[in-house]
Amino acid sequence: MKNKKIKTILAIDTSCDETSAAITKENKIIANKVWSQSSLHANFGGVYPSLAKRKHEERIDFVINQALKRAKTDFRKIDAIAVTIGPGLAPALEVGIKKAKEISNKHKKLVFPINHVESHILSPLINKDKKEIKNLLPALGLVVSGGNTQLVLIKKIGDYKTLANTIDDALGEALDKGARALGLGYPGGAVLEKIAKKYEGEDKNPLPIPLVGKEALGKFSYSGLKTALVRLIEKTKKEKGDLTKEDIIRLAYFYQESAFEHIERVISFIIKNQKHKVRSIFVGGGVAANNNLRKKIRKIARENQIKILFPPKKSLCTDNAAMTGVCCFLKIENNTIKPKDPEKIDRVPKLKIS
Ligand code: KG4
Repeated sequence: MKNKKIKTILAIDTSCDETSAAITKENKIIANKVWSQSSLHANFGGVYPSLAKRKHEERIDFVINQALKRAKTDFRKIDAIAVTIGPGLAPALEVGIKKAKEISNKHKKLVFPINHVESHILSPLINKDKKEIKNLLPALGLVVSGGNTQLVLIKKIGDYKTLANTIDDALGEALDKGARALGLGYPGGAVLEKIAKKYEGEDKNPLPIPLVGKEALGKFSYSGLKTALVRLIEKTKKEKGDLTKEDIIRLAYFYQESAFEHIERVISFIIKNQKHKVRSIFVGGGVAANNNLRKKIRKIARENQIKILFPPKKSLCTDNAAMTGVCCFLKIENNTIKPKDPEKIDRVPKLKIS
């Protein structure tokens, strides 16, 4: 089959702790099945790779069959397979890739290897028509997830330049670690958001904003902020015996504020100092579900008169295979991807976008 004729895709994503399969047609979602393992990893305070692998193996057939069933289709009617090859956890990625190879062998389907960060970055383009997409570019793409925090220039689909990257923790990972330090459980981003909303005080932020004044470096950093939070928790406990409910609310609020203000400063700096005039900013990844962060980035977009796009539904911020399928289609349409011999496809845990 000629690449340009490929429309209906079976997409598979097992990059971290969500086992997901989707059926997409062009850049629309027909079915998207996500099975989250996150509650199983809660006791470890983060994703436990061998457990993730085992659970993906247990669930992969189920999610694929569910996606096919919901789409009222079967393997014969699929034009190609898109599978995430990285970045992600090697043992987890392996499960999706192995399954893609197996289906390809059995049903003679082409396989396209997909970059997970690129899927997140292009996820706001789900359902958008070709002309609309053309008018949105060049754009900035921001991915804020559990494993990645990166800002890229999207010259066109498939042509990117990294403008800022994290030098230590990802934003989602930092929120998860902060929530854990405050005793709020895992994954912590959404809980932290809920708790922080309760804060009504007017204190000065006791936590630092990472790399303040160093925005020109084009870097994100979160480990120092996390350490500052842990130290403050220890100090408060020493003084009071334990954290009160009010302390937890206040610290959750300021931790989130510092973390988001850092993102805001780097984006603002980069927009103001970009040689290319960008027309829009695309935001994807689990933390893009956060209303507070959305508000802050909307403000930057307004001030700079650029458009801002998030995935059409909040459920499409966290890992899902629908964005993998749509990313594959958009790249086929733009001639920036080719199918790969399934036998030569391997996981690339540290895959880069540019
Ligand atoms: O995109 P995702 O599923 O992971 C990777 O691809 O790495 O995102 C998961 C991350 C977790 O760190 C989780 O705490 C965070 O997204 N998250 C949130 C919210 N919902 C999920 N962070 C802040 N606010 C939320 N509402």
